Amino acid sequence: MLSNRINAIKPSPTLQVTAKAAELKRQGLPIISLSAGEPDFPTPDHIKAAAIEAIHQNKTRYTDVQGIPELREAICAKLKRDHDLDYSIDAISVSSGAKQAIFNLMGVLLNPGDEVLIPAPYWVSYPDMALLFDAKPVIIESHAENRLKITPAALEAALTPRSKLLILNSPSNPSGVAYSKAELKALGAVLLKHPQVVICSDDIYEKVMWAGEFANIVMAEPALKDRTIVINGLSKAYAMTGWRMGYAAGDLKLIKAMNKLQSQSTSNACSISQYASIAALNGDQNCLHPMVAAFKSRHDYLFKEINRIPGMNMLAADGAFYAFVNVQDLIKQNGFTDDIAFSNMLLEKAYLAGVPGSAFGAPGYIRFSYATSMAELEIAVARLQKTFLPSLGARL
Ligand SMILES: Cc1ncc(COP(=O)(O)O)c(C=O)c1O
Repeated sequence: MLSNRINAIKPSPTLQVTAKAAELKRQGLPIISLSAGEPDFPTPDHIKAAAIEAIHQNKTRYTDVQGIPELREAICAKLKRDHDLDYSIDAISVSSGAKQAIFNLMGVLLNPGDEVLIPAPYWVSYPDMALLFDAKPVIIESHAENRLKITPAALEAALTPRSKLLILNSPSNPSGVAYSKAELKALGAVLLKHPQVVICSDDIYEKVMWAGEFANIVMAEPALKDRTIVINGLSKAYAMTGWRMGYAAGDLKLIKAMNKLQSQSTSNACSISQYASIAALNGDQNCLHPMVAAFKSRHDYLFKEINRIPGMNMLAADGAFYAFVNVQDLIKQNGFTDDIAFSNMLLEKAYLAGVPGSAFGAPGYIRFSYATSMAELEIAVARLQKTFLPSLGARL
């Protein structure tokens, strides 16, 4: 009964783990869920106030498919202010989350058999979205020695005449590492030799960064601007996941096609969220600082504590809010079949929910989100230590 298309994809593994953890919690188990990828902070008050004002002013109707002009102006101003990138408001498409913007891009770009280059570890949705459009995900491997970032040589080796789209995500979900401008410039030099490849720069964690300076591929190699679609959104930076606000900026032909696709699916992003987003983008950006500072201190705490556990090796992150931990040795030493068995054990024995690395194309890892309170993280660390330190002969 179901289409081949839907049978070719799986449900989002992160949402699945989150749902399983919530179910166990409902049953009364003291679960700590470190699986969800959303800030635990409330949306800042001035953004909420703008939404309430929009409701009172009856701004509750359908909007332009591509988003209201005032919001697209605010997005253009943000891209200029933060990255010195110039876009006209026609080159912006507003959608229901960055996720829909990426979906729209793949929908207008991909033909059956086209190859989508995806550096691993990757955000869970990229390969399945490519499969939905009958394209072929081509995974580019990265290595711990290079902090799980791909090299120009690895990119070059993965490119073929069928390569249509490359997805870059920095800072990365799940690894938290960011590419420097110089690293992006080096990847850009490879891409300049392959003019058929469109680049999707998923900048969603741009504001959640504490090490180094944010850069995307257009800032590093302006010659790639015409074939890069910059994707961003409000979810992670402004703690607005439920508002569903994202956008794309880039080539007019692609953006117009994305608008056409959206006109036949969701029509437009929520009008109230659009007005709230103007307040977020044009308002005082100091509201971001306490959130980023909290994520950094949680990162530093977990980095210190998790790396004290023999067999656990957490990568130092530059941003985002995920501890990406190599547990290959623990899996081997304790006789688990893989990271999925390992994370099931953590859930059942230590009541800790993390997402197995294989969901991100990185078997042998586990991802713990630290978008949760320090108090919960302290309990989580105590449970990890209790579970693993005694079995390895260490003292708590
Ligand atoms: C790398 C990455 N891109 C895009 C998204 C989608 O964000 P949203 O649709 O909430 O804007 C997420 C959310 O988890 C993400 O981690």
